[in-house]
Amino acid sequence: MSSSINKKTIRKQLSEHHKALSKFHLRDLFTQDRDRGKNFTSQFADLYIDFSKNILTNETLDLLLEYAKTLNIKKSIDAMFRGEKINVTEKRAALHFALRAKPGGALGLEDSGIIKKIEDELQKIKEFVSLVNDKKLTGWTNKPLDTFINIGIGGSDLGPKMVVRALNQYRVNKTHSFFISNIDYEQIESLKKRINPETTLFIISSKSFNTIETITNANTLKSWMLKSGCNEINRHFAAVSSNLEAVEKFGIKKENTFKIWDWVGGRFSLWSAIGLPIALAIGFKNFEKILLGAHKMDEHFISQTPEENIPVTLALIDYWYINFFGAETQAFIPYDESLKYLPAYLSQLFMESNGKSTDLSGNIVDYKTGVITWGAIGTNSQHSISQLLHQGKHMTPIDFLAPLSNKGNQKHHELLLANCIAQSRALMQGESNAKSHQHIDGNKPSTTILYDVLTPELLGSLLAMYEHRVFVQGLLLEINSFDQYGVELGKKMALDISKNIAQKEKNIDADSSTQNLIDIYKKSREKE
Ligand code: F6P
Repeated sequence: MSSSINKKTIRKQLSEHHKALSKFHLRDLFTQDRDRGKNFTSQFADLYIDFSKNILTNETLDLLLEYAKTLNIKKSIDAMFRGEKINVTEKRAALHFALRAKPGGALGLEDSGIIKKIEDELQKIKEFVSLVNDKKLTGWTNKPLDTFINIGIGGSDLGPKMVVRALNQYRVNKTHSFFISNIDYEQIESLKKRINPETTLFIISSKSFNTIETITNANTLKSWMLKSGCNEINRHFAAVSSNLEAVEKFGIKKENTFKIWDWVGGRFSLWSAIGLPIALAIGFKNFEKILLGAHKMDEHFISQTPEENIPVTLALIDYWYINFFGAETQAFIPYDESLKYLPAYLSQLFMESNGKSTDLSGNIVDYKTGVITWGAIGTNSQHSISQLLHQGKHMTPIDFLAPLSNKGNQKHHELLLANCIAQSRALMQGESNAKSHQHIDGNKPSTTILYDVLTPELLGSLLAMYEHRVFVQGLLLEINSFDQYGVELGKKMALDISKNIAQKEKNIDADSSTQNLIDIYKKSREKE
């Protein structure tokens, strides 16, 4: 049987299986299999993953695995680790895994020069961080630099910001970290009040070094430094980029310039020099532990069979919901204040990667691809958004995340954990005896991820797990997860409009709504 016929056949079987399974409530599946809560789980180091509260059986997983085989998923995974140009539209490899390969070799790239380049850059980060730790990195008044401002957006902001917050308890020395991303001046205005220019280092993080928000913010802060009396600006600026020419033009010295490469996508880049703010905040050793944790997950991902493979299993479940249940959204709810920024980070990872409308051969697809990914912190979410999750008609598969060890107060911790577990149970179980407006259907799927302590290593493994899940989700959807052409149109239009907005006469050929909005702005300025 050819692979496309095979694919069609298994899709049909999956459809029929979906229909048959729809007759059952998640409650029934727990009644049918008393050990379901243990049978549908995986463990990786200290990460315990319970996917039993998903609408599936062993048959579902077998069929999904069969389906994945028809798409040669394993071959594509191997291709990534061999460094093949799997980012077909941009004709590039996706080598983020190489950034966390163990010294001396990467999984599939042992003989390429890439590993040496990565090691050299890591060494440079290490030396830079130790200069800071030894208070040898000083500003224009010779005071040691202790405040690090990352200026970046998207992947050059969300990853490092999330990790610095998540590992706050590992912070070394008395340093401070801030993240400036938005073009909204309010962020800079409030930052200026909180920092001392004499002891501040700005890190311009931009792979392209031409992202308008980042470069505008960097120039504004450069001017502010000059106004503050700084007469040696290059002691206060560092950059992480693949556009070294532009970095040099900006006036950043070589010692403060860190390289990244075109084969690492922004949303996959926290393992590279984009992670410099992380290493500065928690020390290089802890940064290395994050890399180690991710590497261990890479090893799991490449070596385990699809049946035993955690990222593959989670992606198969995603695909099950997207394609057969018509799920349009997915949520991440950490019951862990440290993971406050995880939902935003994951939103970029999932949505920028898999919100696509062409397949790998460039054909427009006639099915839904990546879902709307969002999230909020538990327990706050229970008092704001959970109503819709429990009684609304959308299907929103959820990942709950929670630590097992307490953060200083057992009572608080047990309440936190109890709420996390209760939410997944309530969503699954529902309230069928209640009448009318009190009725809760239940049958709402979720996966619960528990971990002992959020260590750098564990966080590395967790994030790599999500990266690979996104990649496999993309493979199942038959799209390229590594480009992001969709964001370009808005950027181009913003440039055209910003030129127009600054002038009196109208000079763009815009629709009436757009023109009217511009005119309203212009009129409002006339009043000033
Ligand atoms: O606009 C989207 C995007 O290109 C993201 O993919 C990227 O993470 C972000 O902008 C920032 O890009 P850069 O690092 O080149 O400034």
